[in-house]
Amino acid sequence: MKVTVVGAGAVGASCAEYIAIKNFASEVVLLDIKEGYAEGKAMDLMQTASLNAFDTKITGITNDYSKTANSDVCVITSGIPRKPGMTREELIGINAGIVKDVSSNLIKFSPNTIIIVVSNPMDTMAYLVHKSTNLPKNKIIGMGGALDSARFKYRLAEALGGPISDVDGMVIGGHSDTGMIPLTRLATRNGVPVTEFLSEDRLNQVKEDTKVGGATLTKLLGTSAWYAPGAAVSAMVQAIACDTKKVFPCSVMLEGEYGFNDICLGVPVILGKNGIEEIVSVKLNDAEKANMLESAEGVKAVNELL
Ligand code: 2OP
Repeated sequence: MKVTVVGAGAVGASCAEYIAIKNFASEVVLLDIKEGYAEGKAMDLMQTASLNAFDTKITGITNDYSKTANSDVCVITSGIPRKPGMTREELIGINAGIVKDVSSNLIKFSPNTIIIVVSNPMDTMAYLVHKSTNLPKNKIIGMGGALDSARFKYRLAEALGGPISDVDGMVIGGHSDTGMIPLTRLATRNGVPVTEFLSEDRLNQVKEDTKVGGATLTKLLGTSAWYAPGAAVSAMVQAIACDTKKVFPCSVMLEGEYGFNDICLGVPVILGKNGIEEIVSVKLNDAEKANMLESAEGVKAVNELL
């Protein structure tokens, strides 16, 4: 399994590190436009191989896409991250051009690859990749919901005062501070609905803390987070590489599913060797459907800026 990660910044390097540590990929190519930067990060990561017991070969390259040839999966993290107080949507002016160029270069050398889009505004960047490449829709996957769901589980465990390993929950909708939808109604603590443990007010606080999870970290760090985004990407790549058929909320092109068309939006999907194996239909209540509609309208408004 050969994986390319474009962008050797904090997120891209974390993607490469977590993919390598899971040891399911034979090779990770880390590419950046900054001379020597990806080479340095790759070498530093390779010097952890004996300590972290992985055999994955990580190589760094400066802007030479020929070295990414025949990648099974390509992860696009390139572009600028947000600064404190910025929304993800404000990044579109710079990141759209970068993502368009990167995706075209990638498929030139890996025409059958699966692309995972991380760059923000992610739902719109995933939509852009659909429009600018002729990849089939099952091969373009936006990473947002896997990250937001991890933050949701973190906040639920915090509220429950129990281990995160007991918690399950999913966030769907747009990967935006206002558009994401933590499905508190369906979240569980070892099979028991969390509504048995937490009041509506406390669950609403969990929802709000989840929605601004990225912004909270950007305020603390001065830039976007990278560990959890990297871990979320590595979990998705592993599901594809090992054909596990795991369910993740991902931003995928909808063609009638959930009542939406011509939009990339976070919904649960089964991931496997073909990328998106199946879009899962979850029965939503009226409030959740209204939230999805509002979320979709927000994403469409950003798509129109392309
Ligand atoms: C986040 O939420 C970078 O969008 C990513 O941290």
